[in-house]
Amino acid sequence: MNAPAKITGVNHAAYRCRDAEQTRWFYEEVLGLKTKAAIAFDHISGTDDPRRYMHIFFELGNGGFVAFFDSPDDAKPEHFERKDSFDVHIALEVEGEEALLAMQEHIQSHGKSCLGPIDHGFVKSCYMYDPNGLQVEISTKTPEFEEIMDHEETISPEEIQVWCEKTRAQKVALFGEEALDKRA
Ligand SMILES: [Fe+2]
Repeated sequence: MNAPAKITGVNHAAYRCRDAEQTRWFYEEVLGLKTKAAIAFDHISGTDDPRRYMHIFFELGNGGFVAFFDSPDDAKPEHFERKDSFDVHIALEVEGEEALLAMQEHIQSHGKSCLGPIDHGFVKSCYMYDPNGLQVEISTKTPEFEEIMDHEETISPEEIQVWCEKTRAQKVALFGEEALDKRA
């Protein structure tokens, strides 16, 4: 079998937002991303589903986007409760610690709390929540990034094997053997 085409980056990651303007304020004015598109639809494309929604795209420096759906016809307040960062979070990158600190100050000057920086060894990060309950991390690679990640790459197959053996029984009890099948 031929190798698949190389995936070169994230085109967009998309989330639900409460309100397009509230979200634009945060991503454009607080984080400095450009609003590249804000497209209103009166039904779901390619279907006769009558939900109205807006799809809004914020441009990142490398050509990718963070995108949102503002869909009041099916939105619920609980969609916008703060989500556990293990369930979902997004980390946006800036270059260098000076840029990270300047971004933190800029965010705080808009009345948003921004915790950190926290030193994770390979990156340093600041954290906040967007208006939709999504945790946003601003991170910068440390000078040790390549060295640390190159080492991690060499040990990761074994690390996964050891971890999954250690936690297998707990997961089988939780999910069942079938759900853990590779093609489930
Ligand atoms: Fe992260």
